[in-house]
Amino acid sequence: MEQVSPSEAMAHKYPEWVIMVVARDAEGRPNVMPAGWGMICSGDPRLVCVSIAPERYTHTCIEQTGEFVFAWAGERQSELVEQTGSTSGRDIDKFREFEIPTAEPAEIGVPLLAQAAINLECRVRHAYPAGDHTIFVGEVVAAHLPEEPTATLLNFGGRFAPAAPLGDLV
Ligand SMILES: Cc1cc2nc3c(=O)[nH]c(=O)nc-3n(C[C@H](O)[C@H](O)[C@H](O)COP(=O)(O)O)c2cc1C
Repeated sequence: MEQVSPSEAMAHKYPEWVIMVVARDAEGRPNVMPAGWGMICSGDPRLVCVSIAPERYTHTCIEQTGEFVFAWAGERQSELVEQTGSTSGRDIDKFREFEIPTAEPAEIGVPLLAQAAINLECRVRHAYPAGDHTIFVGEVVAAHLPEEPTATLLNFGGRFAPAAPLGDLV
């Protein structure tokens, strides 16, 4: 074993799923950002968590409203990941600017992403400070799949590719 810096070691972890985090601000305007640091963290109750830096506008939105959509990005959303991951809802309305198609939620006041592979509606149960990020834990209160199955999108370290669709694996 060769000892290396933590950053060098962690650069070898890819691929990782891209989670699109959607939240509304106090005025009701929706915003979205991609997050790599998200996962399922409990089965019963069903909880997911995502680690978000305080300077993100999404952090402000979740703090203000206590709700978010946790969506696995779909295979057609790589451009959107780059667009929404390099701009802030503090400066622009990303939904208008990038013409992001949405769908109606069932339980919370945050729109779903029509082109995502999986949409989970979440209410914040906990928020844990974690170094330079905050881990928001959300209880899944509703879940949605698109009518046409969509593969998830994998991040290979700044380059994106669809995960193999169901049926292609041996
Ligand atoms: C692939 C990808 C993964 C990212 N993962 C995270 C993450 O896990 N947590 C985080 O705070 N920011 C993450 N970012 C950065 C935010 O998405 C980015 O700063 C975004 O512009 C914030 O938008 P907002 O200010 O509208 O919330 C990621 C960006 C990309 C492109």
